[in-house]
Amino acid sequence: MNFIEQLVSQALADFLNAADAAALENAKARYLGKVGQITELMKGLGKLAPDERKTQGAVINAAKTRIEKELNARRDALADAQMQERLNAEAIDVSLPGRGRGMGGMHPIMRSWERVEEIFRSIGFDVADGPEIETDWTNFTALNSPENHPARSMQDTFYIDGNDTEGKPLLLRTHTSPMQVRYARMHTPPIKVIAPGRTYRVDSDATHSPMFHQIEGLWIAENISFADLKGVYLNFVKAFFETDDLQVRFRPSYFPFTEPSAEIDIAFGSGPLKGRWLEVSGSGQVHPTVVRNMGLDPEKFIGFAFGSGLERLTMLRYGINDLRLFYEGDLRFLKQFN
Ligand code: PHE
Repeated sequence: MNFIEQLVSQALADFLNAADAAALENAKARYLGKVGQITELMKGLGKLAPDERKTQGAVINAAKTRIEKELNARRDALADAQMQERLNAEAIDVSLPGRGRGMGGMHPIMRSWERVEEIFRSIGFDVADGPEIETDWTNFTALNSPENHPARSMQDTFYIDGNDTEGKPLLLRTHTSPMQVRYARMHTPPIKVIAPGRTYRVDSDATHSPMFHQIEGLWIAENISFADLKGVYLNFVKAFFETDDLQVRFRPSYFPFTEPSAEIDIAFGSGPLKGRWLEVSGSGQVHPTVVRNMGLDPEKFIGFAFGSGLERLTMLRYGINDLRLFYEGDLRFLKQFN
């Protein structure tokens, strides 16, 4: 093997031994750099006789070409290897389960809320929404609870700092009944509406929460009677609890804004609560004073109203025995409804 062939195989061996791009460029400099061995050989050609220069030049050129070719091949190989290493390092294990997104669920109270809306819509009731901060007038006075009347203390409540435009106190509504008057003043009879929403009272134990939900119902026209209330409500509870096997009872009661007034109790014909009377709603025929406050003539218009507790309905539907569970935010409880 002559010197040049040796040089070439030495170069190829050096290239193969270069573990990375920097080592490869160092190796290249040793042969093709400014003072590299091939470069030096080229420089030496000048001293040769023209004939020899020609043959020797061709040999050196061929060696140079060969070395450059191998250099490029090795560069590509190193670049490929580096890319492969990076791909391996950044590889995604597609067999791992995804992190996924936390899926929210609907709160059981909201489930009932939507369910009640659906049922009443299906029999032609409008659905209305009202403010949770109410005026004293709409929450009490318009509903026939005169100022300082003892009946107001049945619903002790939270007052808001500051007054309404007439200097009267503002409060968190104690029931959804103010919606009777609000809605009726904005619509013409026949009036057929439910108003679900949050309500507030100073009350807190296993069956009372300072914030709770009610569904107000109101039907006012020229001859809507207590019989219609019975029909509508019986229909509602049968649809809500998905059973015909229940009874409804109207128990005389008192509300300033209805006369006569009744508590509505239901009793299931089967299941764990079989035969027990359970109170689910206040109700009654809308008091003439309230009809007048709606801007209507009580000689002409008559109807019924009811106010049902959404927590109560939900507890009965799902067999929940402590109302506080609804508000503790314990996912073990809440997940059962989704
Ligand atoms: N607003 C009453 C309550 O909160 C319920 C009710 C509504 C009674 C409508 C009669 C008519 O207890």
